[in-house]
Amino acid sequence: MSEAVLENIRTRRVVREMTEQPVERAQIEAILEAARWAPSGGNLRPNRYIVIEDAETRRLIRLVSPGMFQKAPVLILICTNWEVAAEHNLPPTDRALLIDVGTAAQTMMLAAHALGLASGPVTSYSKEAVKMILNLPAAYSPEMFICIGHKAEIAQPGMRAWKKITWRDLTHWERFS
Ligand SMILES: Cc1cc2nc3c(=O)[nH]c(=O)nc-3n(C[C@H](O)[C@H](O)[C@H](O)COP(=O)(O)O)c2cc1C
Repeated sequence: MSEAVLENIRTRRVVREMTEQPVERAQIEAILEAARWAPSGGNLRPNRYIVIEDAETRRLIRLVSPGMFQKAPVLILICTNWEVAAEHNLPPTDRALLIDVGTAAQTMMLAAHALGLASGPVTSYSKEAVKMILNLPAAYSPEMFICIGHKAEIAQPGMRAWKKITWRDLTHWERFS
């Protein structure tokens, strides 16, 4: 096992302050390529990705996204394509669909970190407004933005300070007695 992989997992943090510096196209493509290798329930691959670099589109999206603190130069929207789910008789409520969003999201953020880029997920936005802004096909459900950019060297707006958790706090061995 590569220690570099574990180090990448340990040191990735959500970044909520980014500079306006653009992200190279090759780096965006490397992140999308990494997401292609994320595990997918039944290998159905229901995720579709929308890459948004246009400044006005990003501004409109920020207006309808109270949880988007970053002014990121690149947004990748992870969508579930319900047509793919329906082809395989998966109801829209099937949990594999959201789990697929999660595996892609973490893979993208780890890939961004490995490339020296900052990233942050956002789920706090108006789905209806985002659908309209992006003119999404009816079958596309916008599930999570991944903001990508370069970290600004200023203090991040404070999130709740949780007590430091370890894996032991989160794990139970064997059956509950
Ligand atoms: C499902 C999910 C939704 C999230 N939504 C947001 C969001 O809307 N805005 C935001 O700033 N961070 C969001 N986050 C990031 C978490 O707040 C962050 O991962 C957590 O505070 C731990 O920080 P770390 O990843 O840097 O360790 C989200 C994370 C997950 C997994």
